[in-house]
This record gives sequence, C-alpha cells and structure tokens, in this order.
Amino acid sequence: MRTLNVALGSRSYPIYIGAGLLGRAELIVERLKQKKAAIVTSSTVARLYLPPPKGALEARGVSVVAVTLPDGEEHKTWETLNRIFDELIEHRCERGTALIALGGGVVGDLAGFAAAVYQRGVPYIQVPTTLLAQVDSAIGGKTAINHPRGKNMVGAFYQPLAVVSDTDTLATLPPRELAAGLAEVVKYGLIRDPAFFEWLEANMARLARREPEALAYAIERCCANKAEVVSRDERETGPRALLNFGHTFGHAIEAGTGYGTWLHGEAVAAGMLLAAKLSQRLGWIAPADVRRITAVLQEAGLPVDAPALGLERYLELMGHDKKAEGGLIRFVLLKRIGEAVVSGEVPRAALADVLGAGTVHDRA
Ligand code: NAD
Ligand code: GLY
Repeated sequence: MRTLNVALGSRSYPIYIGAGLLGRAELIVERLKQKKAAIVTSSTVARLYLPPPKGALEARGVSVVAVTLPDGEEHKTWETLNRIFDELIEHRCERGTALIALGGGVVGDLAGFAAAVYQRGVPYIQVPTTLLAQVDSAIGGKTAINHPRGKNMVGAFYQPLAVVSDTDTLATLPPRELAAGLAEVVKYGLIRDPAFFEWLEANMARLARREPEALAYAIERCCANKAEVVSRDERETGPRALLNFGHTFGHAIEAGTGYGTWLHGEAVAAGMLLAAKLSQRLGWIAPADVRRITAVLQEAGLPVDAPALGLERYLELMGHDKKAEGGLIRFVLLKRIGEAVVSGEVPRAALADVLGAGTVHDRA
C-alpha cells in the first residue's frame, strides 16, 4: 500500500492506494467518531463491492447503514441527494455518523455534498472504485450535484477524512469507464507534468490493458499531482483552475447532449482536444503537439471529435461555467505540453474556427 498526504493543515488527510484495501477496515475505523457509519453507494457498486467493507466494518463492531442510489450521471440530482437525507434520518444517523462514499465520481460527489450539509456537516471518507474517481474526483473536496442547465452547479468544498483506493476494483470496470478515467490521467500530464505525458505516450497500451503495475504508477502520480495542487489552492482562487483543462468544453458537451450520454471523461477528452486546438489557433502550441495529444487519447480508446452543437449553443452552455467572470468565459489553454494557463482573451473567431471543426459523434 502507498500513502500520500493532502496537506491542508488541521484538515490534512491520507490517500491510501493499493490492492485489497476494501477489506482493510482499520483504515476507516481509526477515523470514525462513533461506531456507526453509512455507506453510500450505487446499485452497480453495491452488487460488486458492498459486502467486503460492510462485513469488515461490522466485524469491528461498527453498525453500518447501506444507502444504495440509482446508478448514473443523470441521477446526480436534488432528488437523489434528498434520498440520502431520507435514509440518514430514517436510520437516525447523527452528527458523528460518518458517510462512506463507495463508488465512482457520481457517488463521491453526491455523498460528499450530503456530508457537507447533513446536520450542518458530518465526517466522510472516500472509497473510490473507478479510475476517474481514484485519480481525481475523490481527492480535493469538491462535491456537487448537477443542474439541468449546468454541470456541478450546486455544491460545496468539503474535504474527506481519508481516501481509500483499492486498485483491485478496476478489474471490473467496463472498458468505456476505464477509458473515461484515462482522460483525467492524460490531463495531469498536459497541464503540469510533461515527463508523465511522455511516460503516457510510451505506456498507454499497458494502461488500456490494465497492467496492475502501470495502473498503480499512474494512479499514484496523478494523486501526487492533485494533492499538490489542492494543498496550494483548496478553493480554486488560482492554480486549481488548471485542473479544469478540457472541462469548459467538456461540461458543455455533457449538459448539451443530456447527462449520461457522453461520459464525463469522454467529454473531457474531446474538450481537451478542443482546448488544444484553440491553443494552437492562438499560436501557443504546434500542430505536432495537437497530433501527439490526439494519438494518446485515441490509444486510450477515447473520442476525439466533439459533438457539433453549434457555436451559439456552446457559448450559451459555457456561459454557465464556474470559471466565468463578469460574463467572460475563461478557458484553460496550453502554452506547451506540460504547462497550462487560464485565459479570458479568446477571440470569437478563434472559437468559431475550433468549434466549427467539430463533427457529430453520437455516444448514445
Ligand atoms: P460514475 O460514478 O458514474 O461511475 C461510472 C460507472 O461505473 C457507474 O455505472 C458505476 O456504477 C460503475 N462502477 C463504479 N465502480 C465500478 C467498478 N469497480 N466496476 C464496475 N463498475 C463500476 O462515473 P465516474 O467516471 O467515476 O465519475 C464521473 C463523475 O465524477 C462526474 O459526475 C464528474 O462531474 C465527477 N467528477 C468530480 C470531480 C471532483 O473533483 N469532485 C472531478 C472529476 C469528476
Ligand atoms: N477536478 C477538478 C478539481 O478538483 O479541481
């Protein structure tokens, strides 16, 4: 097992990464205030992975409430959030009852938001079971639900007590979900870790084949990158915005095509390529760099053509982006591979060129 630290003063917490961690209840029990916890999970993950952590916790005398949610991005809503509250109240969960988010980013974002506001805040632990959640969403304390007009529009910054990433769970991920996680992996290389991007160019096939050593290395490197960024800028007043590379376009793709049609990671992949093309259009990166990025994403099995929603629809959807300031859409762009910047200075003509080039790519 490897342990990394998210350094946030008195709210610092460990990220445990390794095989067989679902049954390692001591990693969780040592952080509980009371011998009661609610595991929040999805129907798919409950079927596959609820028994090991539930059994291990119960064997240590912890009373466990299981809250099973419907599966999918389209359920990252007020209704599902309310369902968590209904169950917590029904089972008399108190301020000291910890929530354990067992699942992908959807479960993590929902359970984290529920923890932030239930009885004005209860402790929670992230137990991510998708690659995307292990390298990104479980770390850093962003929690949220979607609004029909904008992704992650309602939420809170609220840090977990620990992140427990059992890499064995990745064996059952559907190929499309694995690829979606690889999009966020590529993101770290592009925005701040050029040596890692080169490693990805050489090793993407090993990741796509799920070679355990390659996956463990990539997860640890991504977590180290994310922990460093979050430690410097927890509330995204500066460099944390760079983690949204590809997301301004990506969130527009998700909302514009209907949540769940494009997976988050797929939309981020197509969004990163749009951002790379925009960076090229502004004279910042070379056409050869765009080709390298395209090749890595394609090798990961990701879509590289964005849906042709039309310039006006993209602009409307991106106007709701949380990085927008005074109505100005701010994009994360690449100065070079491994160095990203935030820019609000993007001429409409450049956007029209890039978005006009998108082809229809039906993910349904
Ligand atoms: P997801 O949570 O929908 O999980 C993907 C699918 O895989 C689901 O059907 C799930 O039930 C299933 N699944 C989970 N673990 C499995 C396993 N081990 N084996 C088989 N199936 C499994 O999607 P995701 O890609 O994990 O997360 C996407 C979400 O994360 C989006 O809502 C996105 O906005 C959010 N996100 C949040 C942050 C953040 O910082 N909070 C960062 C990135 C993404
Ligand atoms: N996934 C973006 C962030 O955590 O800031």
